[in-house]
Amino acid sequence: MKPVKVGLLGMGTVGTGVIRIVEGYQEDLQKQVGSPIQIEKVLVQDRSKARRYSIDPNKLTENAWDIIDSPDIDVVVEVMGGIETTKQYILAALERGKHIVTANKDLMALHGTEILAKANEKGCDVFYEASVAGGIPIIRTLIEGFSSDRITKIMGIVNGTTNYILTKMSQEGASYGDVLKEAQQLGYAESDPTSDVEGLDAARKMAILSTLGFHANVELSDVGVKGISQVSKEDIVYGQRLGYEIKLLGIAERQDDLIAVSVQPTMVKKSHPLASVNGVFNAVYVHGEAVGETMFYGPGAGEMPTATSVVADLVAVVKNLKLGVNGQRVFVPYKEKKLKTDDQIASKYYLLLHVADKAGVLAKITQVFAEHEVSLESVVQQPNSNTVNAEIIIITHDASKASMNQVLKHFESLDVIHEIKSVYRVEG
Ligand code: NAP
Ligand code: HSE
Repeated sequence: MKPVKVGLLGMGTVGTGVIRIVEGYQEDLQKQVGSPIQIEKVLVQDRSKARRYSIDPNKLTENAWDIIDSPDIDVVVEVMGGIETTKQYILAALERGKHIVTANKDLMALHGTEILAKANEKGCDVFYEASVAGGIPIIRTLIEGFSSDRITKIMGIVNGTTNYILTKMSQEGASYGDVLKEAQQLGYAESDPTSDVEGLDAARKMAILSTLGFHANVELSDVGVKGISQVSKEDIVYGQRLGYEIKLLGIAERQDDLIAVSVQPTMVKKSHPLASVNGVFNAVYVHGEAVGETMFYGPGAGEMPTATSVVADLVAVVKNLKLGVNGQRVFVPYKEKKLKTDDQIASKYYLLLHVADKAGVLAKITQVFAEHEVSLESVVQQPNSNTVNAEIIIITHDASKASMNQVLKHFESLDVIHEIKSVYRVEG
């Protein structure tokens, strides 16, 4: 049986896992696809670097064109990360008729349309299951499993690093900086972890998921983004007291043809299934008009979970090769994108205010909410160790984002409010 030959771009966390699975599960893979899968060449930056998994040194190259130009290689698996150089390599590989498997959400969120168009032109497969939620097969689920339904909402914990950090802060009182270092050592974080903690990584994943779920071309610039770097231990403790867990949540919603997509730290009611997704685990909640509520759960990052998704894509490419049907499953959005305005985005909000500890303050604050037509679900006041401040925690009813912005602007000119400590969306 002629082997299917694979060129691997990258042998870091994910690439090492891919080699382990392809070599370790070779017999099972062969039985499923009908021919051996062989890692032919592996691109790295530095061939002399010590590797965690031993590989024939002749397979390592520092020249990407050894893979892209090789007539022997059928499939290019891209797990090196990066955007511009990587895009150039992938487009060149497609031009030469090679199929692509990638774990690169940065690339797919920014240049997915161009890459998929080139794949379409060349009759090639481009699969990117590992780009969102590591080991959870959510992309295939949205494209195939939900093809019969109309999705109205996708909510996801789609970044393992930040969920790991928030969980450790919440359960162990650990410090933000220490846990981030741990997540980096465990191979969860991006090479620049700012994209994890500032929500960009999750935003890229939500752009991919909402494009697939709503059949409209949602771009990164359409996603409102706020990360977790400002989340304090105080927020976590107060949230828990009121029955909430703070999660970095990607939220994509559709009403009629209007959509809104965001990533932000969110107070999630403890009874909601997303509230108990902890550590590096991810979960994606999908609501469909016909099916109702569903949820998909699994490890969101790390060597072996991510590699399972990459190799599953590789298996799909090889099966297509056997059937001669490559390039026939390229996803093309068919709906016009219409984004909600701030007037049309509604949710409940949690606010923590530091205010003057004197009579009449509460009345002034509730008056501002009333002026902007935001009604309140609960208001809790407690003294602070700092004698000039009292703390007020407010949960609103559903309010438009525009109204909440007006309330916050109004608060800035209210002398009894010393500080707006936190404002979070509330879900569940
Ligand atoms: P990583 O550990 O940093 O590994 C990157 C690999 O690519 C290394 O082997 C590196 O070579 C090689 N490389 C990087 N730039 C290169 C260049 N310009 N030329 C040649 N080789 C280059 O990264 P990773 O964590 O495996 O992530 C890889 C991709 O998967 C990224 O797109 C990431 O977003 C995505 N992803 C990661 C995870 C995860 O849990 N880590 C999960 C899902 C998706 P050297 O070894 O010589 O340095
Ligand atoms: N840095 C990413 C995360 C890797 O923490 O989720 C998986 O995409």
